[in-house]
Amino acid sequence: MHILESQLRDRLATAFSAVAGESVDPVLRRSKHADFQADGALALARRLHRAPREIAADVVEAADLADLCDHVKVTGPGFVSLTVRDDAIDRLLTALTTDARLGVPLTSKPETVVIDYSSPNAAKEMHVGHIRSTILGDAVSRLLEFLGHKIIRQNHLGDWGTPFGMLIEHLIDLNETAEQSVADLSGFYRAARNKFDRDPEFQQRSRQRVVLLQGGDEETLRLWQTFVDASKKYFLTEYEKLGVRLTAADFAGESTYNHLLPEVVEDLDKLGLLRESDGAQCTFPAGFSNRDGDPLPLIVRKSDGGYGYAATDLATLRHWIEQLHGSRLMYVVGTPQRLHFQMVHQTAREAGWLAEPVRAEHIGFGSILGPDGKMLRSREGTSTKLADLLDEAISRAGAVIAEKDPELSAADRRALANVVGIGAVKYADLCIERTNDYVFDYDRMLALDGNSAPYLQFAHARICSILRKADTVPAGPVLITEPAERKVALELLALPGILEEVAESAHFHKLTGYLFGLATTFTGFYEKCPVLRAEPGIRESRLALCDLTARTLALGLDLLGIGAPERM
Ligand code: ARG
Repeated sequence: MHILESQLRDRLATAFSAVAGESVDPVLRRSKHADFQADGALALARRLHRAPREIAADVVEAADLADLCDHVKVTGPGFVSLTVRDDAIDRLLTALTTDARLGVPLTSKPETVVIDYSSPNAAKEMHVGHIRSTILGDAVSRLLEFLGHKIIRQNHLGDWGTPFGMLIEHLIDLNETAEQSVADLSGFYRAARNKFDRDPEFQQRSRQRVVLLQGGDEETLRLWQTFVDASKKYFLTEYEKLGVRLTAADFAGESTYNHLLPEVVEDLDKLGLLRESDGAQCTFPAGFSNRDGDPLPLIVRKSDGGYGYAATDLATLRHWIEQLHGSRLMYVVGTPQRLHFQMVHQTAREAGWLAEPVRAEHIGFGSILGPDGKMLRSREGTSTKLADLLDEAISRAGAVIAEKDPELSAADRRALANVVGIGAVKYADLCIERTNDYVFDYDRMLALDGNSAPYLQFAHARICSILRKADTVPAGPVLITEPAERKVALELLALPGILEEVAESAHFHKLTGYLFGLATTFTGFYEKCPVLRAEPGIRESRLALCDLTARTLALGLDLLGIGAPERM
C-alpha cells in the first residue's frame, strides 16, 4: 500500500480505539505546523469526560508509527502532530516511480454509477447551464471510471413536449431538410417562437400538431424523429469539439420514457401517494411546504392529462435502478432545479423505488455570468453558442502561444491553441466551487501566471523538457535531502486522498487547487535544487521527482478532460 494518509489514519484509528474502547475517527488532516495532525481527541474528550491533551498523550503512547513517523507529539489543545520520516517518504515515492496509477488504488467497492449530464433540449442551442453540466459531468465520469466504477452516461435530452408542435409546423412551412433548419438552431427556434406568438393560425396548427404527436400519428412522429436526429448530430459535433466523452449511444431523451409514464401514475395511485390539486394529479412529498406552511405539490399529471417533467424523472429513476442497476445516481444539473430533484427523490423514497444502498445525488452548480454580472448571453441576447465561446478561446490561446514561442510552426500552434483554449474554458469552470456563479473571463482563464489550465500545461511541458534533456529513464530511487524536495514529495503522496474526496463530493476545485499547489511547490523546488547538474544519486532522485510531478499533473488534467502536451 502506497497511500501514506490511509496508513497513518489506520494506525491512529487503532490507537484511538485502544484508548477509547470504541471505534474512533482520528480526524487526520494535513497541517502547517507538522506534516499531519489528528484532531480526534477533541470530540472524544466530551464523551470520555477527560482532558483532550491527556487522551492525545495516551494515543501517542499507544500508536505504532515508528516506521512512518519520527516525531509524534501532543500539540495545541489536544492534537496529535505527526512528522513523517524521510526514509518512509523515500520508500513510498520510489514505489510510485513504477506505478502507472501513481498510488491511486482501484476502489474496493465498485459501483454502477448513472450520470445524467449535458442533457440539452433538442432544437435549442445549449445554454450555459448545459455547458457547465457537460464539462463537470465529463470530469465526474472520467474520475469515477479511473477509480474503477462502472459508468453509465445518460444524456437526458429534452426531446418531448409542447414546443415540438410549433417546431414541427415550422419545419413543414420551411419546406427544407431538418439538417438545413437545425444548422442555425437558435435562429430556427426563435423564428418558430415568433410566429407562434404573432400568428393565431400557426398557433392553432401547432396545438393540433402536439395532439397528433402525443397520439402517435405516424407522419408527425417521422417529422419529429428527423428533427431530434438532426439535433443529436449537432450536439455530437459540439461534444467532439469540446473533447467530452458523450457519444450517440449515451442519448436517452425524455421521450425514451413515454411508455412508462402511465405506470408511474398508476403505481403512485395504488400506493395512495396521489392527490388532486387544481385538477392535476400530485404527490405531496414529506418535508416540503410553501411559505404558509401548506404542503408543496409535485405535479405528476397535469390537468389536461399530459405528463410533466417530474413524471418523466420518476420513470427515469426507476429505469436506472431496475434496468440499469445503478447504485449511485448523479444528476449534473444547475442549482435552480434543486427543489425539483429533492421532491422527485423524496417521492421515489416514499414509493419505495429509491432505497438504501442506492443513493441519488443532485450535483448542482451555479451560473456562468457575463462581464456585466448577468447570465452569459450572446450579443443578440440569445443563449450563448458554445462553438463561438470555444472558437474565441482557441484563437486567444493561439495569440498567447505565439507570443511565448514565436518560432512555432503554424500547424503546431494551431494544434496547441486547441488544447490550451479548450483546456482553459474547462478549467475556468472546474476551479470554481461548483455551487458558486462565476464570471466568464478570457484573460483570466488564459493567464500564464495564475490558477489556470495554461499555467499547468506549461508547467507540465517544462518538466517534460527537463526530462528530455536528462536522457535517462527517471527511475529513482528517491532520496530526500532538501526541505524543498520534501514539500514536493508530500504533495505527490497526497493525490490518492484528494481523488477519493473529489469522487465523493464532485468538488473539482479541490483537484484543481491541488494541481496548482503541486505546480507551484515544484517551481520552488526547481529554483532551489539543481536537477540536471546534481551529483550522481541525487540527480536520479530529483529526476524521479520531476517525472512523478509531470505524470501527476498530466493525470490530474486528464481527469478534468484537459490535455497536457509534452512540448509547448
Ligand atoms: N433538459 C433539462 C433542462 O434543460 C435538463 C435535464 C436534466 N436531467 C433530468 N433528469 N431532469 O433543464
